[in-house]
Amino acid sequence: MKKVDVVLGLQWGDEGKGKVVDVLTPGYNVIARFQGGPNAGHSLKFDGEGFVLHTVPSGIFRESSVNVIGNGVVIDPVILMEEIEAIEAKGIDVSSRLKIAKRAHLILPTHRMLDAASESAKGKSKIGSTLKGIGPTYMDKTGRNGLRVGDILSPEFDARYNALKNKHFALLSQYKDFTFDISEYEQRWLGSIEKLRRFEFIESEIEVNRLIDADVPILAEGAQGSMLDIDFGTYPFVTSSNTMTAGVCTGLGVAPGRVGKVMGIFKAYCTRVGSGPFPTELFDEDGEKLRAIGREFGATTGRPRRCGWLDLVALKYAVMMNGVNELIMMKADVMNDFDTIKVAVAYRIGDREVDYFPFESNEDIVPVYREFKGWKSDVCGIRDYDSLPVELKDYIAFIEKETGCPIKIVSLGPDRSEIIVR
Ligand code: IMO
Ligand code: MG
Repeated sequence: MKKVDVVLGLQWGDEGKGKVVDVLTPGYNVIARFQGGPNAGHSLKFDGEGFVLHTVPSGIFRESSVNVIGNGVVIDPVILMEEIEAIEAKGIDVSSRLKIAKRAHLILPTHRMLDAASESAKGKSKIGSTLKGIGPTYMDKTGRNGLRVGDILSPEFDARYNALKNKHFALLSQYKDFTFDISEYEQRWLGSIEKLRRFEFIESEIEVNRLIDADVPILAEGAQGSMLDIDFGTYPFVTSSNTMTAGVCTGLGVAPGRVGKVMGIFKAYCTRVGSGPFPTELFDEDGEKLRAIGREFGATTGRPRRCGWLDLVALKYAVMMNGVNELIMMKADVMNDFDTIKVAVAYRIGDREVDYFPFESNEDIVPVYREFKGWKSDVCGIRDYDSLPVELKDYIAFIEKETGCPIKIVSLGPDRSEIIVR
């Protein structure tokens, strides 16, 4: 029996999921998003051209792929339609390749305002949200107030929209210093809702399980990263969904026993955008160098990403929590010119040393590093594993030993073609 394979990020997002999914899609007929929303920014590059996807699964550019936006995703119709129109401008018939879960929740214009109001009221302790309305939409979902894609087809949609909007206005009035005007965005939002009607709305859990029964290869595409998981990430500096493998079960309607291979993506170093704990963060020239060479600026917000060394403590935690079977390492090429490369192998917290990711991730954690000699050569053009410099192979072998997981893919550049599959 076929199962649903999973590919997801093991760090704080931006691991390179878009590229990996795009590379893996020839092996899968169906690509499905199961959580998150337009806070995601999945970058793809092929034929010398770049593309950023926020809501649409990263299989959309491959012919004969079916792309499912699952029930666990939250959708902003404005952003989704903009994205669809940009893809259609490339001559791709999106309506034949995209299916949207009726149970997926809608991000309202007022959800975005609530996100912004909540963040500005937090002042210094702000999360650094992408301000796409993600948190407030998931709050309405669990609060049982939300509007879903399937509701678009109901004759009561307008009334329900207005009721929820007015509820939000009442909430927003609590934020005395916060002024807003949704009229322009609301116009676009209502227009986009109309445009969405031409797409196929489905009971994605039924469709996905039928496809599994029919032995059709399916890939679930994660958004964000494990350390941003609402339960196991660095709370409260997290996103509002389960970004881990467990999210596939609730976000697509796949039973745990039907989850197949789990592929975890990580960068050869670490980045984080937004606030919150980041034990291996660098504030020196090495951090600047990683940001400049790795072009570490947000694909969704353009914000500079915080950069630091690879954190094996956090990575091992993510491997455990996701049940990762295979690792995919991204962007080692960014470290082509480093004399020394460091990896955190444990944390010192006060006078104790821990080798696991602790609850107290907000406390002062001092990483315990192991140093590696840099490979000091350009590895970008290399296409077979054996030709990699021995220092890079040592680095890879160490990560494999520590995590107990094989690194099956080594990506050495943004383009589809810049990759070594072992
Ligand atoms: P992809 O899929 C990196 C971060 C935000 C913020 C926190 C909460 O491209 O890897 P939210 O908008 O969800 O309320 O923000 O999570 N964040 C991401 N960081 N990559 C992402 O997605 C992210 N999505 C959210 O910066 O710190
Ligand atoms: Mg991103």
